[in-house]
Amino acid sequence: MTFDCLLGEEDLSSLVYRNLQPDTEMPFFSRVFMESVRLQPGIMYSTPHVIKKRFTTIIGKKKLEMMPRSVFMLNLFEIHRDPDQWSEPDKFKPERFDPDLSEYHTTPRHKKRKPYSFSPFFVGTRMCTGRPFAEMTSKAIVNMFVVAFPDLEFVDEKFKN
Ligand code: HEM
Repeated sequence: MTFDCLLGEEDLSSLVYRNLQPDTEMPFFSRVFMESVRLQPGIMYSTPHVIKKRFTTIIGKKKLEMMPRSVFMLNLFEIHRDPDQWSEPDKFKPERFDPDLSEYHTTPRHKKRKPYSFSPFFVGTRMCTGRPFAEMTSKAIVNMFVVAFPDLEFVDEKFKN
């Protein structure tokens, strides 16, 4: 198996940056991308954010009251490895993002994952504005890489099948 498996059935010649759109489908690559940013988020912690309105939330078994002007940061690294949300959280399993493969697509208790359990680009109004650009660029770079080195093979034996 060579690296072109990352691109699945895509036509390599069409996958140059100018042809790519945010919704250009590279389903397998998209799953590899998401699993990569799950395990190694670009930033481990969000920047500090300030609470505007008072609210209560439950974290684990603790009730937490958030007061206006409190500052919080999200630990994205830990959120992405929460064992209640991710089966075998330290393993690289792109199929987690494939709805047809239910084994890793759900929580260990076979429930739907919480929406914010995967937040590599943060969430809400302050989410990353560069997300489409980052995804398109990575698709173009992987494509250039595969075209430039067509005979590259995985070093790890378990991927050579
Ligand atoms: C894989 C690549 C990237 C990741 C994982 C990523 C992740 C993030 C995260 C987590 C935040 C929120 C930070 C916070 O408020 O705590 C953020 C914000 C932001 N990102 Fe990215 N980013 C990526 C690429 C990019 C690129 C390529 C651009 C620009 C071309 C970009 C522009 C921005 C901007 C402007 C914000 C601030 C948005 C705001 O606070 O309103 N990012 N990014």
